[in-house]
Amino acid sequence: MMDLTRSLLHLPMCLRYQAEHTTRSIRIVSKMKTYSIALIPGDGIGPAVTEAAWQVVEAVARGADFTVHATRLPWSCDHYLETGAMMPEDGVEILRGRDAILLGAVGWPRKVPDSISLHGLLLPIRKAFRQYANIRPHRLLPGVEGPLRKSEFDILCVRENTEGEYSGAGGRVHQGTEDEVAVETAIFTRKGVERILRFGFEQARRRRGKLASVTKSNAQRHSMVFWDEVTHELAREYSDVEVTSYHIDAMAARMVMAPETLDVVVASNLFGDVLTDLGAAIQGGLGFAASANLNPDRSTLSMFEPVHGSAPDIAHLGIANPIAAIWSASMMLDHLGETDAAARIMQAIEAITARGMGTVPGEHKTDDITRAVLTALH
Ligand code: NAD
Ligand code: IPM
Ligand code: MN
Repeated sequence: MMDLTRSLLHLPMCLRYQAEHTTRSIRIVSKMKTYSIALIPGDGIGPAVTEAAWQVVEAVARGADFTVHATRLPWSCDHYLETGAMMPEDGVEILRGRDAILLGAVGWPRKVPDSISLHGLLLPIRKAFRQYANIRPHRLLPGVEGPLRKSEFDILCVRENTEGEYSGAGGRVHQGTEDEVAVETAIFTRKGVERILRFGFEQARRRRGKLASVTKSNAQRHSMVFWDEVTHELAREYSDVEVTSYHIDAMAARMVMAPETLDVVVASNLFGDVLTDLGAAIQGGLGFAASANLNPDRSTLSMFEPVHGSAPDIAHLGIANPIAAIWSASMMLDHLGETDAAARIMQAIEAITARGMGTVPGEHKTDDITRAVLTALH
């Protein structure tokens, strides 16, 4: 008995085993790693899809050797109307101690201008935690038809997430006069461009070995030519990866006409934003497009959210597709190292879409799709 006790106590600390001694046996009462997750449901359909994703995370954790703990943060446009801020001044500090953030959607333009809501919550979080790689997978789930007459594609978009066209450098002068000027400067740093391209090369190496780098260097001859140059510099280091440079306009057409020729697609912040709504479209709609805002060096936390927004046109109808948010939650668990749990969620999603559940926009209710995923998990 004592030997068994000692060996249990020598199990790795990270598993946090606690042994309960009884006269006849030693029963492991908990062996739990606990993840502390900040939930930011946000606006519109955000709360519904975030709750759906969270139910699935809790359910998968019940059958695994970890537990999850949520801190629900009410930061949203309503919060702005109540308090004058999308999140408190120390919002970033509140998030810092967590293991990850699961976010729904931010924005309700009829109540609060997007230029305030997004710059008060989503965009500062991405920057504060150096979540420079926004990865967005685009493939058809089983049973989803999509608008293309082909189903063989599997694209991973890697979007630069902290600088470029979203740097925020600029200003307006002479507002409201005929001399009005508005300037929005895109900023591309060597550090920023090199690290996102390197991330793209690494992803390509792990997948099918192909990287498409997207610019507009025929028109934008400073930043985009620079991006192409860094791509070619790095290509020498990654000789096992087949790299091709495309202009954004040609890439948009290719994603529709020949998506099966693409593997990893790396692009700047704005280009990546546009291409990933296109990616969402070819995979059947925004209800299927998941994303992860990664801090790849893991020096701080990452954030997981569907690609879609708050969908004001369908908010409160109960028909938002929660699959994008649930898939994003699977990406979160994968990032946290819970690869089995992440895979179980994907299997459950695929099991229900394969039989037509959630595949046609508006046909099933959010709650029904969520319940089906939960049942498939068991
Ligand atoms: P949107 O993504 O909210 O909606 C575009 C279209 O897709 C709508 O017709 C909507 O009904 C549909 N759609 C989106 N998600 C869906 C889902 N899960 N299931 C079924 N249909 C879905 O884009 P928008 O209308 O341009 O933006 C609305 C608001 O959201 C704006 O304030 C915008 O700035 C914001 N926004 C936020 C994020 C984010 O938080 N990450 C992303 C995009 C847009
Ligand atoms: C996205 C969204 C955001 C972006 C908006 C809401 C600022 O469209 O996550 O794709 O452009 O990054
Ligand atoms: Mn977008």
